[in-house]
Amino acid sequence: MKSLSTSNQVAETTPEEERLLASLRAQEWKEYIGQDQIKSAVHIAIEAARQRDEAMDHTLFYGPPGLGKTTLAHLIAKEMGTDILVTSGTALSKVADIAAILTNLKKGDILFIDEIHRLPKAVEETLYPAMEDFALDIVIGKGPSAKTIRLDLQPFTLVGATTRMGMMAGPFRDRFGLVHRLEYYDVPTLEKIVLQAGNILHIEVPNDCAIEIAQRARGTPRIALKLLKRVRDYIQVRSDNRFARDTVHEALELLHIDPLGLDDTDRRILHAIVETFGGGPVGLGTLASATHEDAGTIEEVIEPYLMQLGLIKRTPQGRVATEKGKEI
Ligand SMILES: Nc1ncnc2c1ncn2[C@@H]1O[C@H](COP(=O)(O)OP(=O)(O)OP(=O)(O)O)[C@@H](O)[C@H]1O
Ligand SMILES: [Mg+2]
Repeated sequence: MKSLSTSNQVAETTPEEERLLASLRAQEWKEYIGQDQIKSAVHIAIEAARQRDEAMDHTLFYGPPGLGKTTLAHLIAKEMGTDILVTSGTALSKVADIAAILTNLKKGDILFIDEIHRLPKAVEETLYPAMEDFALDIVIGKGPSAKTIRLDLQPFTLVGATTRMGMMAGPFRDRFGLVHRLEYYDVPTLEKIVLQAGNILHIEVPNDCAIEIAQRARGTPRIALKLLKRVRDYIQVRSDNRFARDTVHEALELLHIDPLGLDDTDRRILHAIVETFGGGPVGLGTLASATHEDAGTIEEVIEPYLMQLGLIKRTPQGRVATEKGKEI
């Protein structure tokens, strides 16, 4: 069973899984389940922009990986009836890259920049006048004879996505008219997402099996879909494609998926707080060095889920394990 990994980590998807996830990407708003508050806010912004025949306000989505930020950007473009250009903070290394992109945008187009916190400073600063005035300032020549010329751009919408909001400069964040944090999904919502994916894949998933998967998905649609696929493989090989709760359970056990959806990193951080630091309080920096994890990742990706489950708390003195957290 080579393809069965033992980790629940979001980052680990194979190219094959990526293709499957892309095929399951919500194509319509009605397929985008949950996050109701964000959906209504986005709809109002889209409708207002359409009525005024303007580009929609620049929009920033932030939150842990796999919660649907990229999907939202695509749905916005679809509803605005405009094109979307997709790039990422790591791909845009030079000012010339962003200048070429900006000058090619048509009126109302969406420019989606994933991992926007990773943009180099110079590229970020080129975006400031572009976002505010739809203008691109280009420096020609060097030294004392250098001149700046200003090019007009078509009104466009920048949609940014980041898992690390804390790494973005304040002035950059402030230039987004809409800023939304994506929240973890509850089990009933994930259950619906699993059932919907089952339909698309033409597999019959009974409700109790969908719940079983949803419970272990770490509040994250991407993980729910990934688990569904792994379970489907297991069931295809072991039980003639018949989904039943005990078989699903077996498959998930075999995959070492924690009943709470905790992955190895989550458990390592929790155990460090409980065991190494006697339940806390422990400061973020100390916890990061003791576990060899990046402090920002702990703060913005790992801790939110542990807090959501009520396993740890943040206090002014540091992180503290709850009674429930100590029992795990
Ligand atoms: N609300 C939702 N309803 C249905 N499916 C969803 C929803 N949110 C996400 N998905 C599915 O989960 C998968 C991951 O979503 P997406 O790629 O948009 O996440 P992301 O937030 O951009 O993640 P990352 O931060 O890793 O880039 C996709 O296959 C997507 O279709
Ligand atoms: Mg994404």
